[in-house]
Amino acid sequence: MKKIIIIGASSGIGFQVAADFAAMGWRVGMAARSLQSMDTLKQQYPGNIQTAYLDVTAEDALRRFGDLIEDIDGMDILLFASGVGFADPELDDAKTTNTLNVNVVGFARILAYAYKYFRDTANVHPGQIAAITSVAGTKAIGIAAAYSASKKFQQRYIDALDHLAHIQHVNIRFTDIRPGFVRTPLLRDDCDYPMIMTVAEAALCVEHAILKQRRIATVDSRWRIVNALWRLIPRPVWNHININLHSKHDS
Ligand SMILES: NC(=O)c1ccc[n+]([C@@H]2O[C@H](COP(=O)([O-])OP(=O)(O)OC[C@H]3O[C@@H](n4cnc5c(N)ncnc54)[C@H](OP(=O)(O)O)[C@@H]3O)[C@@H](O)[C@H]2O)c1
Repeated sequence: MKKIIIIGASSGIGFQVAADFAAMGWRVGMAARSLQSMDTLKQQYPGNIQTAYLDVTAEDALRRFGDLIEDIDGMDILLFASGVGFADPELDDAKTTNTLNVNVVGFARILAYAYKYFRDTANVHPGQIAAITSVAGTKAIGIAAAYSASKKFQQRYIDALDHLAHIQHVNIRFTDIRPGFVRTPLLRDDCDYPMIMTVAEAALCVEHAILKQRRIATVDSRWRIVNALWRLIPRPVWNHININLHSKHDS
């Protein structure tokens, strides 16, 4: 039975991907801080799912990650789906710190642990490390400065681990999945978002990218076009484009 561990599996994209992999007959290790939704899903697939409390910002995160790997008897794929993000034009200190702790420090510690796990067990578990980053990592977005910078960090960290794996002859595939907007608890309920996907649509794209071992997957195709276009915009022009969220109540 193939085994995937999903960190950030209690809601949104991570939860849906976990449910889909369990339905496909995979062994799934689900981790996050809220256990309730994961344990409810576990009741549907008791032989396939193992759940664990894990706070990626906590000192004991790596020990808990290691324990979960043991609980499901190994790991073929890690999917890092934990994340926080805020529209924060006021540059709030608590939001900035939270974003960097989860999306940067927690992210890097978990991916480094997975890298070393696959490096040390490559003969048994040739591995794949996948992460949900964001199209927000491909352009500097002023109203979400910490979030967009953290996503850029994630993309560059994956690139660097890929480089390291080649230098060290370690057999790991890397998959950097970059969604546009997805209707999950991460977004504000009171705002309109362009080209928004449902969780089910986004999860299908994520699963496809993982199973096809795509190196970089921008989802969906509309965002691939936006991404390609906004890369062409020079910084002085970009700095004059006012990107903002629009309240559903605005006329
Ligand atoms: N929604 C979008 O529009 C969108 C677009 C592009 C990229 N993304 C990315 O997709 C990923 C998944 O987000 P989502 O949209 O599915 O949002 P979500 O429903 O809010 O899910 C976020 C997940 O992160 C977990 N998490 C948060 N803080 C954590 C911590 N300290 N330790 C461990 N887990 C933690 C949450 O679990 P607990 O709170 O239970 O710990 C939850 O399972 C994120 O990286 C996000 O940046 C989302």
